[in-house]
Amino acid sequence: MNTVGTPHFAYRQNELYAEEIPLAQIEAAFGTPTYVYSRSALSANLEAFQRVLASHPAGANSLVCYAVKANSNLAILNLFARLGAGFDIVSGGELERVLAAGADAGKVVFSGVGKTEAEMEQALNAGILCFNVESAAELERLNLVACRLGKKAPISLRVNPDVDPKTHPYISTGLKTAKFGVPIEDALALYEKAAALPHLQVEGIDCHIGSQLLDPSPFVEALERVLQLLDALTTRNIPIHHLDLGGGLGIRYRQQDSEPSVDSYLRPLLDRLQGRGLKIILEPGRRLVGNAGLLLTRVEFLKPGEGKNFAVIDAAMNDLMRPALYEAWHEIQEVRRQPGSQTAVYDVVGPVCETGDFLGQDRALAVAPGDLLAVMSAGAYGMAMSSNYNTRPRAAEAMVDGDKIHCIRRRETVAELYALEQKLPD
Ligand code: LLP
Repeated sequence: MNTVGTPHFAYRQNELYAEEIPLAQIEAAFGTPTYVYSRSALSANLEAFQRVLASHPAGANSLVCYAVKANSNLAILNLFARLGAGFDIVSGGELERVLAAGADAGKVVFSGVGKTEAEMEQALNAGILCFNVESAAELERLNLVACRLGKKAPISLRVNPDVDPKTHPYISTGLKTAKFGVPIEDALALYEKAAALPHLQVEGIDCHIGSQLLDPSPFVEALERVLQLLDALTTRNIPIHHLDLGGGLGIRYRQQDSEPSVDSYLRPLLDRLQGRGLKIILEPGRRLVGNAGLLLTRVEFLKPGEGKNFAVIDAAMNDLMRPALYEAWHEIQEVRRQPGSQTAVYDVVGPVCETGDFLGQDRALAVAPGDLLAVMSAGAYGMAMSSNYNTRPRAAEAMVDGDKIHCIRRRETVAELYALEQKLPD
């Protein structure tokens, strides 16, 4: 039987495997909690985008720029770079990371509302593909920094099409009320300003409306608005060479959910772009990594209660923050299933001193202390958003590739957590 999202995590004789490796073997090698990724799932997820783009005339000139924020492990970045991907970054740190992972700077786009002068300088010196500029003030700052370096900065404006992505409010970004982008009504005037600044080169239009969209129709609505802007720019002699349509395609988190195919998301967009000769950039994050990863954890104690039973595990909100932060649902599955065994309903909680420290609530599980559990769909915004709260070393990360296991991040030691701190002098 398969688990949510990917055929690369599946049961064989009641034992959960990652590709050819039983998860229990990963626990034996690395302990818990450990993030486990499937190389085949990661590759297949990227190739699904590349295949649809390659199959459509409007996708002939296109680039998938993986949104690094979803999971920035070097091994994952390197794998995507080898498969031809570019990267969407939001900080100088992410730029350094993608270059260390072997990325081509000419395939990097730089998003984010608060780029510092130092980050702009770093990206100009690296020779990135495009800055996705989010305000008038940023245009001016970038022009000055580029002037200082004697360069021209390639830019897109991130426009805010005011489309409702119908997703969680914390991850909606394209509404008027969001801090992101510039209102589409102001974009024309800002493009005219950008075109007049001597150290900027207008290249494209950028738009990202939100994350975890399970209905692709808002993407089409946003594209319609972007195309109106593009036509208005063309009549004003500001040529546009690429459209960056952002990320946001959702994944299946619950057993009963369905997710739109990459084809059903991209094809209507590509049909609409047919004949325009534009380069198309996409910035998927979650869809490439979310269901290619799980969090492996061990049950420490069972704690029966009056109103609730708790299964206390060795992973916590500091390892996977999404349930605490967004009330997000992740399937939680026994690594070893015993057919016919009795289940009980548990809140699956970590050892952190917060009531919000749960990874799942009201879950029917057949577990005993010492058993392994898999928290599914944890490849995106899992490790990337983890912290050391409660002086907890962050989880190890392992990548399975067929019948091989690679450690792609060893577990931190406690000494490393306070290595940068100093006691006061006597
Ligand atoms: N491009 C831009 C400009 C973005 O802001 C984002 C995500 C992406 C691309 C990638 O979006 P994706 O394809 O992954 O949906 N921490 C939240 C998600 C925050 C998304 C932020 N921006 C979560 O755990 O659900």
